[in-house]
Amino acid sequence: MSARLPPVLVVDDEKNMRLSLKTVLTDERYLVRTVESAEEALELLAREDFFMVITDARLGGMSGYEFLAKSRAQWPDLPVLMITAYATPKLAVEAIQAGAMDYLAKPFAPEELLHAVARCGERYRLLQENANLRARTIETYRLEQIVGECPKMRELKQLIQTVAPTAARVLILGESGTGKELVAGALHGLSQRSQASYVRINCAAIPETLLESELFGHEKGAFTGALKQKPGRVEEADGGTIFLDEIADMSRPLQAKLLRFLEDGTFRRVGGTQELKVNVRLLAATNRDIVEAIRDGQFREDLFHRLNVVQFRLPPLRDRGEDVSLLAEYFLKTFGVSLNKNTRTISRAARQKLLSHHWPGNVRELRNVIERALILETTTEIQPGSLPDFQLEARLQKTVAPRPVGNESLDEMMANFERELITSILEQNHFNLTKTAEQLKISRHALRYRMQRLNLNTEAEGEEPPGPEGREGPA
Ligand SMILES: Nc1ncnc2c1ncn2[C@@H]1O[C@H](COP(=O)(O)OP(=O)(O)OP(=O)(O)O)[C@@H](O)[C@H]1O
Ligand SMILES: [Mg+2]
Repeated sequence: MSARLPPVLVVDDEKNMRLSLKTVLTDERYLVRTVESAEEALELLAREDFFMVITDARLGGMSGYEFLAKSRAQWPDLPVLMITAYATPKLAVEAIQAGAMDYLAKPFAPEELLHAVARCGERYRLLQENANLRARTIETYRLEQIVGECPKMRELKQLIQTVAPTAARVLILGESGTGKELVAGALHGLSQRSQASYVRINCAAIPETLLESELFGHEKGAFTGALKQKPGRVEEADGGTIFLDEIADMSRPLQAKLLRFLEDGTFRRVGGTQELKVNVRLLAATNRDIVEAIRDGQFREDLFHRLNVVQFRLPPLRDRGEDVSLLAEYFLKTFGVSLNKNTRTISRAARQKLLSHHWPGNVRELRNVIERALILETTTEIQPGSLPDFQLEARLQKTVAPRPVGNESLDEMMANFERELITSILEQNHFNLTKTAEQLKISRHALRYRMQRLNLNTEAEGEEPPGPEGREGPA
């Protein structure tokens, strides 16, 4: 079981002890290296990889304790097991206080030793796993993850490569679903800060009252519910990058505080008096029209200029030409694997349908469309029938789009919405009530009832005059 672990390093000036430790460990298939002195051990540790060290407390030359202190300073993650001569609690405490992972008092049973070693092996594996996970997270932010070959996207990827290694602040603009988060991630992943933390905050998702404390932290008792002191996310991001998503949704007072923070990296926790300072790189994004937000007085112009050192504008998907196909194939491949489907291509007709759509939800919409198509598709090729009826959706979207509300009540708004929706479907079906009812999945009778309630003309064009109620059946 220990085959994948690097060796254990045994440090003991007694030859017999070295040998017996080696035998016990080798029998359990651990790899073992032995040395006589702490000096030798330090030299070897600098050159080779070990998953733990077992050392006697008493050594000729540098003592086991001194060795422990030195190795702790240089390799803080390397566990050291100390072997002490007598089982006195005092020595044990000393060993642990000096930073030993564990201690064994002579004489000890082989099981005790093996138990301690197994624990260190497990710890090593966990640390390793963690490091791999971290590496993989960074992996997801590679540039190749941003699919697109149209001139605008090529230019954008080029700009990412140029700007990422600098300390420049970046403002990322673009409609919803165009890939702003992906760009922010790539900017961090390709920067010199990529090994440090990457903190993301969605300013629209956190209630306004909590956002300041999330960002800058708070002192104990700063407000009701602040039971203990909490450091801000900017502290977590120290040395790394902070990504403020949906920045246009930040309140004006907090914008002022952010502005101050951007001047020199100083801030105060909510309810705090002490001035703190961090070194973070700031990336920000919004899908709102920031110029309009400034004009409306919702966003500070001075903050905009501070953030806008480099600006990325993500083009809407409808302006990316053939990238629609490229992205569709990319999502087909990724979802194909996770859904375990062998639909591998997109038929010509389906491709045509994808290319002619307006994509109001951009890449996110395309991603969802392909995922859905893969689930529905029964052949090896995506057919147009597995794609949504874009025309219908576009019309619905128009109807559904939230409009500014006067002083209407909820009931009035719902009635208006229902009226518009029904009218739109009626239009599509040339005012045929039966077809409209079918599409709305209600009975014809129910449709007529609703139309009457909404003051819609039920004797619509294209519809035969309403027959006797009996004709429809008591559905
Ligand atoms: N060029 C691209 N290549 C591959 N996947 C992409 C690309 N652009 C966007 N995506 C994917 O589309 C989805 C939406 O992207 P993202 O979350 O970055 O959008 P956004 O611009 O932040 O949208 P919003 O403004 O709504 O937050 C994500 O799943 C993302 O991985
Ligand atoms: Mg986003």
